[in-house]
Amino acid sequence: MMNRFFKCVLLAVVISASAFSGTLAQAQDPTLREVADRKGVAIGAAISSWTFDADSKLRDLLAREFNTLTLENDAKWCNIHPTADTYNYAGTDRLVDFAIASRMQIHAHTLLWHECFPDYLKGQTLSRDEAIRVMREHIATVVGRYKGKIAVWDVVNEAFNEDGTYRETPWYKWIGEDYIPLAFEAAHEADPDALLFYNDYGIEAVNAKSDAVFEMVKRLLTAKTPIRGVGLQMHVKLGSVGAGRQLDPASLRENIQRFGLVGLQVQITEMDVAHTGEPTEAIFDYQAGHYLQIADACFESRYCTGLITWGVVDKNSWLRLPEFSNNPQVSPLLFDDQYQPKKARDAVLDSLLRSMDETPVLSDSERAAIVAEPIVERADLPEPVKTDANQLAPDSVPGTAYYAAFPVTITLDGDASDWANIPRGSVDNVLLAPPSAATTMRFAAAADDQYLYIMADVTKAGLVYGKHPIATEWYEEDSVEFYVNATGNLSLLAYEPGVAQIGIAAANIDNKGDKPLIGGGRSDDVEVKVVAVRTSEGYLVEAAIPLKSDVWTITPKAGGIIGFQVHLNGASTVDRDTKLIWSIYDTADNSWQDPSVFGQLIFWDKAR
Ligand code: XIL
Repeated sequence: MMNRFFKCVLLAVVISASAFSGTLAQAQDPTLREVADRKGVAIGAAISSWTFDADSKLRDLLAREFNTLTLENDAKWCNIHPTADTYNYAGTDRLVDFAIASRMQIHAHTLLWHECFPDYLKGQTLSRDEAIRVMREHIATVVGRYKGKIAVWDVVNEAFNEDGTYRETPWYKWIGEDYIPLAFEAAHEADPDALLFYNDYGIEAVNAKSDAVFEMVKRLLTAKTPIRGVGLQMHVKLGSVGAGRQLDPASLRENIQRFGLVGLQVQITEMDVAHTGEPTEAIFDYQAGHYLQIADACFESRYCTGLITWGVVDKNSWLRLPEFSNNPQVSPLLFDDQYQPKKARDAVLDSLLRSMDETPVLSDSERAAIVAEPIVERADLPEPVKTDANQLAPDSVPGTAYYAAFPVTITLDGDASDWANIPRGSVDNVLLAPPSAATTMRFAAAADDQYLYIMADVTKAGLVYGKHPIATEWYEEDSVEFYVNATGNLSLLAYEPGVAQIGIAAANIDNKGDKPLIGGGRSDDVEVKVVAVRTSEGYLVEAAIPLKSDVWTITPKAGGIIGFQVHLNGASTVDRDTKLIWSIYDTADNSWQDPSVFGQLIFWDKAR
């Protein structure tokens, strides 16, 4: 279980532990650091010198709970080597000195990356030889300065695209594929004892991108390139981790195993778990369940030698910056804004302890509870209110419930006047948006005895459609989505007959065929009619969903409820860069696979 990398840490700990043996109080949980040291794995957090300098409480917490310090920003090229002939070591030096004084390992990030690319090299055309010279000099200088002090270097960061092709970084353009082995060789020459890692995001599970990285590292190993590890970044969103989800722990295990079997170690290098909205206890519990599943997959494998979080306390997370997330309240880490351990920290601790068969800190049922999808308490709805006496149904409850008036018959003609007294719902949760976007969506629904009619009124500058195959990638361009769960079970965790995601492409505006352009899970189960037209501010969609089909019979009656959800997808140029969501229960864009995160549509007798 123990690997060479951590032998020195381990020795130091055995000595100090025996010096104190018998005097340590057992009442409190052990720290992450004590347990990770005993196991011989890295437990780390990333930090920038500017955050570090400003906060002594943070420094204390870092050294107490972690045995590894990752350089979050200071060692990136644009910071440490800002002009051709200036190196700026000040921040890195302070972090390295602190780590050494605190007997922590240093994980240095990163030598080559397309981001934080220095201004003086931007837009340059370098010959292959010149580029190799510039790259080697940087690596030799930076790695050389910290020779013997830095345990791990991320040599190359994020060199692949999602489809497994090489990212066209300047280094790739100037040098070609072998910039990667050349960089590893340069780093190894400068410090033969440093463990050299390749690091990337989106390679956590077995997929096209991780396949490409796997093939690349095998080529490097065959050529005796001194690569020793692969870093899986692990920036994940709440709801994306779990059996059958985007990141299935079984696939993560398989991935760790395959890299291990060719002789590499694997570390989780940048973990955080993002969520939308204000964090609640239910969110923190579910988030802890994500940390638990990832930590379990890591620590049960002899090949996974560490888990590093991308920050120490929530308030310093990079995801609090507007350029990296839309949620100023996001709290993705193990420690809260008051420096207190969160449930996520207990989860990681529990995983470490159990991997060594030591006394756990969470019971089996606590573990099961945080892994399980939180039970969404459907909000107690307020008394229905009509703000305007002419309304055919009460105001919708934002993100929670929509009252659909019946019987109302709508003509699909691209003219919204027959929706006049039907209340509008507003799709307010911005999961994804380009910085200057002002895209909005309002919707309405009503029914007669044949159809559930829906209407979407989208405000958007410039429509993008017709650039993707509708059948498979309709959601990459301008489109609206209406979801229906008519099974009667609003807690369903997966699609089954009676649930449908009806994605309606803006491409219907120009559709001359007789079949509407529709996509989405089980959308073929029902025959939806669509009319879409441009408006002065964007576009308008009207659709009719049949109430009787092979998969459902929906009979509107006062107070009858179906699961209901509304999304908007928007693109500014080609691919989707806007995602708006109506239901407050869908915090991770999961409605396509999980009907339990829908809101509800309540039928309302208009005569009432
Ligand atoms: C981020 C830092 O956390 C931010 O402070 C900085 O402004 C941008 O970079 N993947 C990586 C990291 O490999 O280097 C990034 O760090 C986060 C995503």
